[in-house]
Formats: sequence, structure tokens, C-alpha cells
Amino acid sequence: MTLGAKPAATGEIPATIRRVTAPVLHQYKRQGQRIVMITAYDATFARLVDESGADVVLVGDSVGMVMQGHPHTLEVTLEHMCYHARCVRRAVQRAHLVVDLPFMSYQVSAEQALLSAGRLVQEGGAEAVKLEGGGRADAVRKIVQAGIPVMGHLGLTPQSVHEFGGFRVQGREDAAAERLRQDALQLQEAGAYAVVLEGIPAALARQISQSLAIPTIGIGAGVGCDGQVLVMQDLLGLDDRFKPRFVKRFAELAGVVRDAFATYGREVREGTFPAAEHSFSGGPATQSGSESAE
Ligand code: KIV
Repeated sequence: MTLGAKPAATGEIPATIRRVTAPVLHQYKRQGQRIVMITAYDATFARLVDESGADVVLVGDSVGMVMQGHPHTLEVTLEHMCYHARCVRRAVQRAHLVVDLPFMSYQVSAEQALLSAGRLVQEGGAEAVKLEGGGRADAVRKIVQAGIPVMGHLGLTPQSVHEFGGFRVQGREDAAAERLRQDALQLQEAGAYAVVLEGIPAALARQISQSLAIPTIGIGAGVGCDGQVLVMQDLLGLDDRFKPRFVKRFAELAGVVRDAFATYGREVREGTFPAAEHSFSGGPATQSGSESAE
């Protein structure tokens, strides 16, 4: 799509974009084209996300919860993020690839933030990095000056779970809402190219989105954002034990996957799998040639 091209109709996948980049996301905002972001942590699912036409793949530090089984994201390291980013990088061709800076990889100083961001780019293949919280203008400026796009993340920032006393909606009181408005503006002024708004009232998210030139991407922040993100496992219904209010399951895969495993188990125990069509002919008795396993 060239600059000034006719905006895509609501809901249409902008198929003419061969690669989604940070400037393309700004173009979407100007044209009122909503941004679709989904998390991924491995090559198999990253390929499916990319093929679905999603604009942004986020290797989130939610990996700590949905892949590592922790109750929060605080134990995720930079090495973990580089590893998962590399897995995803191999599969993503069209979408813009953003990787999270994990807890304690950017809070110490702007220099530490730049070094960590550099590793996500060089070792993980990230096209942009995401960091949480307000008051990070120095770190954002330093990373952006090095040519790495930075996505901010405000509101219910999971790395502050202990400060918040749990995963609680933020910005409900006037003072907290005003702080979030100021933090968003400061991120934009420092050079952030987009900002995730998580777990804040929909009206506040809409206000912030309208006040910024850069796109906002919401999760639990209502429909007034410039785009939406969901954690892949939530979207697919891969964990049927609990569903937060802001999540919509677009599939119910937990039952499907469990049933598939159980059917496989039954057939193995019964001896009906593998059948003849899953087995190779030949061998010592028949002396036939070699056969591909595919
Ligand atoms: O880590 C993550 O998956 C995220 C999204 C929920 C925005 O930060």
C-alpha cells in the first residue's frame, strides 16, 4: 500500500502490504485501519499467526505464564526471550515482530536498556522491543536513537504485579487516569512508535488513543484503541480453567486437544494405531528398497 492510498474497509486484511513495519503501523493509524496483534512463542504457532494476516506478532514475556507455567512474568530472562524470539523469527515473514524486554533487563539504566534491546534485535531477530511502565523516557530515547523502534506498555503492566497487589484494573481514579495520560504523552515524546494499553477503563483508553499520534494497542482496554492484542492461548481457549473478563475465546481448543490425545492413547492401547497405512513395507523378508518416511 502506498502512502495516501484508499483506506482498507473495516475488517479487511491489507493484503497488499508485503511486510508490516513500524511506519506501516503509523499509516494504519492515520487511515483508521485497526491493528491486529497476537502473541506467539514458537515457530509452529508463529507461522499460523503470520499466515492469518495478523499485523504484529508479539513474543511477550507472558511466555513465563503460558509456556513456563509461572503465576507471573517475573522469572523470564533475556536469554529466554532471545530463544523464543529466534524460534518465532524463523516462521514470520509478513508480520511486524515485537519482542518484550523482560523484568530487570531495562530498569537499571538507559544503557542497560539499550544493551538488552540490542540483544533482542541481534540474537532474537526483533524488529522492535516493548517495555513496561511510565517514567522510562531516558531508556526509550536511548534505544530509539540506536535505531530500534520501542513500543510502550501502560496500565496493568504485569511486571508490576506485586506493586499493584495482583492483576488489577488501573486508572480508575482521576489522579491515576491523569498519570496514565501523561505517561502516554511522555512515551510518544521520547520516541515510542506505539503503546499497549492494558487493563484500563475503555473511556480512558479511547481518550488516550485520540490524544496520541502514535497507535495504541489495547488488551482489556475497550474498543477505542487503534488495535487489539490477545495472548494466543487465551484467544484459542487452550486453557479452560479460567477466563478473564477481557478475553474472548475464538476457539475452544482445550477440549479438542485433550480428546485428540485421549483418542491416540486409546488406539495405542487397543493396537489399532499404527494401522497398515502408517507402516512401511519391505524389510528383511521382502528385500524391497528404501522408502521415505514422509
Ligand atoms: O507479554 C505479553 O503477552 C504482553 C501482552 C499481553 C500485551 O505484554
